Amino acid sequence: MITRKNIGTDGRGNNVELFTLTNGNDTQAKISTLGATLVSFLFRDKTGTMRDVVLGYDDPVSYLDNKGLYFGATVGRCANRIANAKVVIDGTEYTLEANNDTNNLHSGSNGVSHKMWEPESMDEEQNALTLKILSKDLEQGFPGNMTIKVTFTLDEEDALRIAYEAVSDKDTIANMTNHSYFNLAGDDAGYIGSQKLKLYADSFTPLAPVGSVPTGEIRSVENTPLDFRDFKEIGQGIEDDYDQIRYAKGYDHNFILDNKGNLALMAEAVCEDTGIHLYAYTDCPGVQLYTGNFIHEHKGKNGAVYGERHGFCLESQYVPNAVNEPAFLAPFLKANQIYSSVTIYKLALD
Ligand code: GLA
Repeated sequence: MITRKNIGTDGRGNNVELFTLTNGNDTQAKISTLGATLVSFLFRDKTGTMRDVVLGYDDPVSYLDNKGLYFGATVGRCANRIANAKVVIDGTEYTLEANNDTNNLHSGSNGVSHKMWEPESMDEEQNALTLKILSKDLEQGFPGNMTIKVTFTLDEEDALRIAYEAVSDKDTIANMTNHSYFNLAGDDAGYIGSQKLKLYADSFTPLAPVGSVPTGEIRSVENTPLDFRDFKEIGQGIEDDYDQIRYAKGYDHNFILDNKGNLALMAEAVCEDTGIHLYAYTDCPGVQLYTGNFIHEHKGKNGAVYGERHGFCLESQYVPNAVNEPAFLAPFLKANQIYSSVTIYKLALD
């Protein structure tokens, strides 16, 4: 079932709508037209209590007041960092906004994460909602008028499928992600350190000491705090005296996935208290594990108080700065070709 309601303005004169997808288990995914944002993901835990497992806000304005956090947002055209906010496409250098030190992060302040999306279609049978946006030529510094669609589908197995499709009239870049912060104990439950995580990755892309841009190296996770090949508590290693952990102030790293472009598991996470188990799948070449190291103390949904490391993100993506780094597969998109990508977050009980 899909319902829609108006949830007020964004403070810039736009009305924001909230769509609620509900399945037969009472699982709900709530998506707003501001940033095509996953506002809530509600699931019944092992005690019968409904838990909202993503961080967010009740009102649209808070999403704009806390732009740097990207709670639940659809991020693009290019997720994560581009070094020195510059990229060369077909021999022409394009300058982007340097909104994170000297680098571009999540496509800058004109990113689609804080723009209004239009409802394109609702499919009651599939429990699917498609939102659409036009990202104009050079609006973010990238060439081409690009139409981007994102479809959220909630199935009867409690899987939330997020499918992206984009097409541009000039050669450009496409690298979309969803920036949900998960807390499997509930969004108001605080530190996520005791929740367990498994990543389907043998290697990661180490960061330079400043600026959080990958150096081009691909490093094995073996004998590092970034080894999540078997379930381990997220808090374990998060303060280790290891250069990569110090540079990022915790986990904020891209891991290399071996899915060869096919939809496959990228991660699992479990909270023993609620019994909630997250299965995350993608066809992207990488995933950013970000442990909310920069969440400042502030108010969230329903009076919740959020703070440092109260949520973890599993952002499926190309390797950050792959557009400038020959060692990595880059997200260039040819004019009139279709970019498509799928990520699934599925909830279950252990
Ligand atoms: C990504 C980055 C982090 C941080 C968040 C947004 O995960 O890698 O460093 O900027 O986005 O707050």
